[in-house]
This record gives sequence, structure tokens and C-alpha cells, in this order.
Amino acid sequence: MFEQLQPLPTDPILGLTRAYQEDPNPSKVDLGVGVYKDEQGNTPVLQSVRKALEVLHQQEMTKAYQGMSGNVGFNQALQSLIFGGVEDDRIRTLQAPGGCGALRLAAELVVRSNPGAAIWVSTPTWANHIPLLGNAGVEIKEYPYFDAATSTVDFEAMRECLSQVSAGDLVLLHGCCHNPTGADLSDEQWGQVANLAVERGFVPFVDLAYQGFGAGIMEDVAGLRAMAAKVPEMLVVSSCSKNFGLYRERTGALSVMAASPSVADTAISQLHNAARGIYSMPPAHGAGLVELILTTDSLRQMWINEVDEMRNRIQQLRNDLAGALQASGDFSFISRQRGMFSFLGLDEAQVERLQKEFSVYMVGSSRINIAGINRLNLDYLAHSIAAVL
Ligand code: LMR
Repeated sequence: MFEQLQPLPTDPILGLTRAYQEDPNPSKVDLGVGVYKDEQGNTPVLQSVRKALEVLHQQEMTKAYQGMSGNVGFNQALQSLIFGGVEDDRIRTLQAPGGCGALRLAAELVVRSNPGAAIWVSTPTWANHIPLLGNAGVEIKEYPYFDAATSTVDFEAMRECLSQVSAGDLVLLHGCCHNPTGADLSDEQWGQVANLAVERGFVPFVDLAYQGFGAGIMEDVAGLRAMAAKVPEMLVVSSCSKNFGLYRERTGALSVMAASPSVADTAISQLHNAARGIYSMPPAHGAGLVELILTTDSLRQMWINEVDEMRNRIQQLRNDLAGALQASGDFSFISRQRGMFSFLGLDEAQVERLQKEFSVYMVGSSRINIAGINRLNLDYLAHSIAAVL
């Protein structure tokens, strides 16, 4: 029966890693998949994670199944990292297999709660949002977000569109470090979107994949927390891939804020049922490490320092790249944007030339992973970009 299948092209983001690995050019530069890299081009295991691994190794007494919500200590610790002091008796957090698993669970919940609801995503958004959410059967609609001319958020257009969204629809917002543009909402704009959510009755749905990589661990959730204090209902998906460097451990969570504690409990029972029907329960290892780090003072402080270091390095690279490209045009927006990604504003032919002629790898939209830059490849990269401009 499988001969009926048609081959599909490789994933536009994940497929880049293979192409890069197979390229024999010693000057090759990988700005593709969004993983943090250090100055040597490695994606290290964080020291706080190494220490937590030792403790977990000593303390873990069983590999028996966890409960349906996964690791409850992890859920509590992550919920408080995200929501802080916000009134939380209406919020429940459920561990999921990575941010991707949590996004999919959220979409399953939407279909069960309100089958007619659409999820509005920014133009552009992370390429995988559309299949992850849409394959659950939810209609995806788009709101304008990025102004390529100024490399900033076109907030007027966004607000105009969101003020037409129907009650019961969901609006997907990137908590910080917008992927792929690097252009974030200001705290004031978060406030305006929260007001619109209350007025229109749409449900904010926040994807928080980079907490700590923008302005700081607490700063990056300021908009989300202000919103949670205003709106009756909200969904938040969080990932520990980037800020804990736990990419392959698939560690994430879905938080549901409902109108009352009992409705939140009902939503969680539906999520248990949805998860049981897809993957049964989430993997334990990464969540066990995160729980240990967030609940042990010394490990938590070590982790905060490591996140600060990763963020500061990315910001420094942003400034360096903007400086190195000065002669080729105004790229100063790169230093004003946040997180791992920015759009260079190149067309597809230019991106293709960069890959074919210079072995510089980036997503077709000209999204670059800033963390792939280092002192050794910066000049070569700037020279290559200048050559295709
Ligand atoms: C990215 O956007 O590059 C990362 O989130 C990795 C992925 O799964 O696409």
C-alpha cells in the first residue's frame, strides 16, 4: 500500500541541518535551525543541567509511569516561572512533549471546546505553527504583524485586524523573541492587545519558547503577565528547549487559564483524555531536570546566570553583525530586535546564492539564527551577504 505515497520535500527549517553537515566547505556558516551555539559553534549541555543530572541520577528510584499530567513538581515550578504572582487558582499546567506537543494539545482543546473557533496567527509566524495547529482540525487565519520596510511590528495594522476578530476565536502571540522576525510587541502594545481581547472576547494564546532570551527571564513575561491579570481565559504554551538547552528531551507544558477553578479542572481532564489518545503521557527526563533546577536555590541561580550569558552573547552578536553590515545598508534594526532570529530582508534567489556560492545556510525567508555567528565567521558572513546584495 505504501507505493501510493508521494515523497515530500524535507522540512524547510530542520532540513537545513543535513545540507549544512554534508557541505565540505571549511568556511560554511550555519544560521538555520534555532539552537543556541557558543563561540565554538557547539550547543552545550548547561552546567546547571549537568549538576541536576548528577542529583537526578542519585535520587531517581523508579521508571514507573508518571501521572497523566506528567511531573507535577515541574508543572508547578514552570507555572510560577511564567505567571509569577498572578492569581493562579484558575490556572492549571500540564507537562507536554516539548512546546510542539503542547501546541498540538492546545489545538485539540480548542476543537473540543469550540469546534467553530479559528486560531489567528501573525504574518509571518513560525512555519510549524500552521501544521501543528491546523492538523488538529482548527481553521487558521492570519493577522498582519511585520512591516518589512521598517523591520518593526506594524501595530496599527495588527490592531485594526484584531478589532474584527470574533468572540471565541484565539489569537496566537509570541511571548517574546518573535520567530522568525525578532520584532516584539512593547509592554504598552501587550496592554492594548489585552484590552482588545476583553472587548472582542477572543482568547489570547501565547507561545513562550524563548523566555530569558529577549530582555530577561522576568522581563520577557511582563506582557504575558499583564495580560493574564486582565483577561478571563488564556492559553500559554512553554518550551524548555532553548532556555534550558533541553532540545532533544522534548520538555514543555501547556497552561490553561479558565474563567473559574472548576472549568480549569474540566479542561485538564479533557487534555488528559486528548493526550492519552495521542501519546499517553509525556517523557520524564527533561522535566525532572527542570524541576530540580527551578526548585534548588543554587541550581536556579546557576541557571539564571547561564541564561543571562546566552542572552548577552546573542545581543553582542546582534550589535557586531549590524556593525559589520554597515557598509552594505542600514541593518541597525538587527541590534534593536530580540532573541535568536532576524530577517535579513533578502529574496529567495539571494538566499539560494548564499547557500550555493558561499555555504551560508539560512531559512528561505532570509531568517537567520544570530547564535550561529561567532568571531571567526562574522567577517566572512558580512562579506558573503554584501556580495549577494
Ligand atoms: C526553529 O524555529 O528553528 C526552532 O524552533 C526549531 C524548529 O523546530 O523549527
